[in-house]
Amino acid sequence: MQAFQELRLDHISRHFANHAALRELDLTIRAGEFISLLGPSGCGKSTALNCIAGLLSLTSGQIRLDNKRIDVLPPEQRGFGMVFQNYALFPHMSVRKNIAFGLEMRGVGRAEVAARVEKALKLVRLDNLGERLPGQLSGGQQQRVAIARAAVIEPPLVLMDEPLSNLDAKLRIEMRHEIRRLHNELGLTTIYVTHDQDEALSLSDRIVVMRDGVKRQEGTPEELYARPQTLDVALFMGFRNVLEVSAHPAGPGRVRAETAGLQMEGVGEAPVGPAVAAFRPDDVVLTDGDGLPAQVGQVEYCGRDWLADLRLPDGRVVLARSHLALNSGEAVRFTVPADRVRVFSGDAAAA
Ligand SMILES: Nc1ncnc2c1ncn2[C@@H]1O[C@H](COP(=O)(O)OP(=O)(O)O)[C@@H](O)[C@H]1O
Ligand SMILES: [Mg+2]
Repeated sequence: MQAFQELRLDHISRHFANHAALRELDLTIRAGEFISLLGPSGCGKSTALNCIAGLLSLTSGQIRLDNKRIDVLPPEQRGFGMVFQNYALFPHMSVRKNIAFGLEMRGVGRAEVAARVEKALKLVRLDNLGERLPGQLSGGQQQRVAIARAAVIEPPLVLMDEPLSNLDAKLRIEMRHEIRRLHNELGLTTIYVTHDQDEALSLSDRIVVMRDGVKRQEGTPEELYARPQTLDVALFMGFRNVLEVSAHPAGPGRVRAETAGLQMEGVGEAPVGPAVAAFRPDDVVLTDGDGLPAQVGQVEYCGRDWLADLRLPDGRVVLARSHLALNSGEAVRFTVPADRVRVFSGDAAAA
């Protein structure tokens, strides 16, 4: 494997006609890391990945692998492994031949190709299916072949673009686990594109949240889950309740927020005046006395728990997850723990 210390994206942009699909992205990826680019459809994730791969040229900016500038090189000279959503296997070649292809193209000797292909087949647990054609495999198995094909060349960097989105929910979770296992076992460096926050949270060492071609926040899964810095990132990370509140500073990094009798303490950059408080349905706590009164509206059974609309006295609705059954029409009271509320200034509300 071609060793490197870091891949650095320096202010990279890519425009299509007048449209900026990617704007001034700065990002450093260190060897061994698993990084996800996360964001809604159309936010520029694939554009960023294809720029790194060399399938798209940059409009401006530079990409460096350690001190070597690589954005001027064609894809084959960058030599990164790619895994796509649609597998892109050669349909007329056996699994074994598909995996061997990249090694043969690189002029690796026959005995070594055979040995490395066998090892790759074992790694992705397809050792019995080497002679099958891709059409004779399930979607999950085809994606394993695609991953083996990318990994067998021992690339300095593996790029994956929504590799699991064509699989059904159960297989997606299994393959997620496999991808992280391969990353660890092979000591890969991986950049992974997804619109699925659970996938990004469970796989990544670091997540880059994107929106409209721009990086909105970068951090560990824990940081992004607990401390989104803007309302749009919070919404994307599952803070489904957003209430307009008035806010007052309440000590360093803490904000008191209130609306219609609901007193909350939250974490934020201490905005003053009109603001929004955001929190997850999972963080609503039903209480036996304290807290704001509400009436239960629509209730959805989710297997492990229930998801319910709680109607506040002023008519606004808060979405709550409950481990106890709730009945429509029932009167309840609730609170939200201070460290689970994020308060954003009125400006953020416009985002
Ligand atoms: N080849 C292209 N020509 C014109 N516009 C494109 C092209 N590829 C992507 N775009 C546009 O750039 C934006 C980002 O696209 P993309 O990177 O594919 O988003 P994502 O992968 O996050 O869904 C979108 O608005 C998309 O329509
Ligand atoms: Mg895409």
